[in-house]
Amino acid sequence: MPKRATPASTESITKTSRAIKLKKQPLGAAPDAEPSEPLETAGPEVKSTKSTTTETDSAGRPVLVEFRNVTKRYDARAVLNKVDLKLFKGEFLSLVGPSGAGKSTLIKCLTLQERPEEGQIFVAGRDITQLHPGDLPLYRRKIGVVFQDFKLLPTRTVWENVAFALEVAGVSNREIQRRVGVMLETVGMLSKRGQFPSQLSGGEQQRVAIARALVHDPKILIADEPTGNLDPVNTWEIIELLYKINQTGTMVILATHDREIVDALKKRVVTMREGVVVADQVQGTYLV
Ligand SMILES: Nc1ncnc2c1ncn2[C@@H]1O[C@H](COP(=O)(O)OP(=O)(O)O)[C@@H](O)[C@H]1O
Ligand SMILES: [Mg+2]
Repeated sequence: MPKRATPASTESITKTSRAIKLKKQPLGAAPDAEPSEPLETAGPEVKSTKSTTTETDSAGRPVLVEFRNVTKRYDARAVLNKVDLKLFKGEFLSLVGPSGAGKSTLIKCLTLQERPEEGQIFVAGRDITQLHPGDLPLYRRKIGVVFQDFKLLPTRTVWENVAFALEVAGVSNREIQRRVGVMLETVGMLSKRGQFPSQLSGGEQQRVAIARALVHDPKILIADEPTGNLDPVNTWEIIELLYKINQTGTMVILATHDREIVDALKKRVVTMREGVVVADQVQGTYLV
């Protein structure tokens, strides 16, 4: 994929930041929606120590996620090496670094696809590394994830792909209809609701994947190289969409090795290399 972003793309992101109206309600929420559970209620009380930090960032936002001395090994090799990192509620964080730096592993530890051998990961004050496997489905609903390869179900339509996430969670039919409609509208895919993934462009498929990730109204949206398979135009459309979602209060973690995106966003940038956080910039640019 060409690495150059046109100046227009950058300008367009700036325009987006001006044009997006801040919504008071979270995406997809409505008065008759089932009460959205706060992140704190993910699973029964865990015996672990609560995070004691009361730290806030420059905008006064409290810590939502804290990696504390996290080490993850594969075959005795540490691919995350004593990582300490605090992420703040509602922030947009770019996670950058060369291939193999440990970005995806850090994300997998946050989604509990992997468990670190050492350290703790606090989410809303709770050490999630202590969560019981039975509590994982509920926890994961609080965190939306999108991937480079979209991971849509090929035999289901756009609508069904988004609805499926709610069906397995036992949400009522009426509420599914409402929420899927809102989400597809948000990502601009309502008109293609009846199409199958193979009939969509990569950018469209990623929009559907984002709608699916947001359908439980998560506090955190993680995007792991979401534009890795997209051309520049679709790339910028997806980045603008992530930006817009962040404006509604959802924390966004964007793992990318695309320098142009990171430089244009002018948001916090955490740089990893060989399993270690080597830089953390408030309004960063790509370092490596
Ligand atoms: N399941 C696994 N088994 C063994 N090694 C792995 C596994 N997953 C990742 N790794 C290794 O961990 C390191 C970090 O990988 P990863 O987190 O995917 O990096 P990034 O996302 O920054 O490219 C790499 O050296 C990779 O080969
Ligand atoms: Mg990766």
